[in-house]
Amino acid sequence: MSNTSNVHYMDHPLIKHKITMLRDERTGTNEFRKLVEEISMLMGYEALADLKTRDVEIKTPIEHTIQPVIDGRKMAIVPILRAGLGMVSGLLALVPTAKIGHIGMYRDEETHLPHEYYCKLPQFIDQRLAIVVDPMLATGGSLADAVEAIKQRGGKDIKAMCIIAAPEGVKAFTDRFPDVPLYVGALDRCLNENCYICPGLGDAGDRIFGTK
Ligand code: PRP
Ligand code: URA
Repeated sequence: MSNTSNVHYMDHPLIKHKITMLRDERTGTNEFRKLVEEISMLMGYEALADLKTRDVEIKTPIEHTIQPVIDGRKMAIVPILRAGLGMVSGLLALVPTAKIGHIGMYRDEETHLPHEYYCKLPQFIDQRLAIVVDPMLATGGSLADAVEAIKQRGGKDIKAMCIIAAPEGVKAFTDRFPDVPLYVGALDRCLNENCYICPGLGDAGDRIFGTK
């Protein structure tokens, strides 16, 4: 993983390979979902590398020993609806005890501005690490508004994760939230006139859910 300031770019070949499969227009809904799940798990492994551990005493069949476990930190996975839902299972495979919040956002087709239509977060969000997930960071508006929504409800420790990002979105997001670590699977070239990421993968929600 390489990083510039608070943005962490994935450079693992497995992640690169799977993102290429994801982009391919021939990849159907079933495989697309599986790939999103696998990429999210691999990215989660990287993004959670700084989790604190504490030592506990256990007994192996051989002897007593002091060994590390994750330090009971509460976590919330917060997908941005709809497409972020596809990333939840991959992260839950890593941290099965995490609670799940939901933030509903849609982008206006004309203005490309995000509109929040739903927000339900787990209790004690102020004491949790909240990981906001959305496969696509285009203009950055949806992710930034989602982070704002979590902060407004007391969230303090927040990480953001997206599979494909446009440079415009990374800049907009980090300008607004330089304190929030951002994990990016692949950085693409630019946005087109409809604010779609190029080369991107098309509409993530439609590809995950088979709509349109
Ligand atoms: C997509 C995507 C992000 C957003 C990114 O969602 O999943 O949430 O666009 O764009 P931005 O960075 O310019 O805000 P969309 O609004 O299409 O909703 P959907 O997931 O329900 O299809
Ligand atoms: N949302 C998507 O699903 N894809 C894009 O390229 C941009 C926004």
